[in-house]
Amino acid sequence: MKRLKAIVLGAGYRGRAYAEYAAEHPDQLEIVGVADPVQARVIPAKYYWNDWRECLDDHPEADIVMVTMPDSLHHEPAIMALKSGYHLLLEKPISPTEDECREVIECALAEKRLVIVGHILRYTAYFAHVKALIDSGELGEVVSIAHQESAGFWKVAHSYVRGNWANSKKSSPIILAKCSHDFDLFVWWIGRKCRRVTSFGSIKLFRRENMPRGAATRCVDCPPYIERRCVWSARNMYVDHDELKYLFADHSDDAMRKLIEETEYGKCVYQADNDVPDHQTVMLEFEGGATVSHVMTGFTEKNVRTTRIAMTRGEIIGDGENLDVCRFDGNTVETGVPSVYRIPNRSRHGGGDFNLVSEMIRILRRNDPDEIRETTEEALQSHLICFAAERSRLAGGKVIEIN
Ligand SMILES: NC(=O)c1ccc[n+]([C@@H]2O[C@H](COP(=O)([O-])OP(=O)(O)OC[C@H]3O[C@@H](n4cnc5c(N)ncnc54)[C@H](O)[C@@H]3O)[C@@H](O)[C@H]2O)c1
Repeated sequence: MKRLKAIVLGAGYRGRAYAEYAAEHPDQLEIVGVADPVQARVIPAKYYWNDWRECLDDHPEADIVMVTMPDSLHHEPAIMALKSGYHLLLEKPISPTEDECREVIECALAEKRLVIVGHILRYTAYFAHVKALIDSGELGEVVSIAHQESAGFWKVAHSYVRGNWANSKKSSPIILAKCSHDFDLFVWWIGRKCRRVTSFGSIKLFRRENMPRGAATRCVDCPPYIERRCVWSARNMYVDHDELKYLFADHSDDAMRKLIEETEYGKCVYQADNDVPDHQTVMLEFEGGATVSHVMTGFTEKNVRTTRIAMTRGEIIGDGENLDVCRFDGNTVETGVPSVYRIPNRSRHGGGDFNLVSEMIRILRRNDPDEIRETTEEALQSHLICFAAERSRLAGGKVIEIN
């Protein structure tokens, strides 16, 4: 079998996550080049560039371009890579704007290239088992889905109050940045297009008027009697605990101290530059009448997705780890997720990162034009839901039709 060659544009957290696949499966994938102005060399490769444009201008020989740069640097490199004949592993979002998302997918279809978007949840065993249960037909048809994305109080503070996705003008609305994964699952599970969307949401807590009196703009300067009681204290999140350190290439003690003293990750959560909601609810109606309610909230202890799928002959109930299947005829009640889904692996996101790369390699090796086209087209659907949801939220919950 031919070994595929890939270039990584952006050697940050996501770039490293996908590139590691090549290290574990050198017979399938080789990373031939990496572009990153700061940390290109954290990923082993033959060639390095400072910037994605220099790399694509050189037109290195490869099959796949992995676009794993910040959200605002997806659209232009994606179009340039597709027009140069590369297939794309494109991190979500395709772009922060709807027009640009449509343009990327249209360009890929015109060039007959594959676009796999980083919707890694569908490549995890847990969510793939939900898909298999639905597709088995045993439980009839999907009628309604109630799904909650519990974002975790620390995760929301990290990414959506202080971090890269806190301000929609600099990155994307939270519904796109955080929930395109969930909408991708609904589209995949139901197998139809979403036609109508409505949404509400706001910033409930992380606003200036909720700041404790006397708090400083940085946690390191905050009076101890306030900081000690603040669960979002940057010192608490990045120095005293290890859970979030994996997000940074350098997570030495010195680097983490510098992080909270000098960067936005050390800011008071009530005085950050955030404008994205800390909770948002979306209602969807699909072709054929199935409905979905999706709740995203930052006020949960755990970062977990829970789901109840009501079907015409049974129900699937998922707590994020285990699945209960209840048939109305009382015949079976099945629990758990069998370990039959692709290669077991050590990648993050429940193995989803590696399974996504593996799936991309499988599709490219098979080289079926219909499969390439359908996979590429489907990538757009979740994004269209996100844009409709944001338009609805900003219009006070108006129903938005998706064409
Ligand atoms: N699929 C998922 O679950 C998931 C999770 C997190 C992030 N993301 C998405 O992945 C993308 C990357 O996020 P991340 O967390 O890896 O960010 P990151 O900051 O860790 O990495 C981005 C990298 O891009 C590099 N870069 C910036 N400008 C560049 C340029 N001109 N040329 C080449 N490289 C450049 C940066 O130096 C950095 O190393 C974002 O779009 C994000 O929304 C997806």
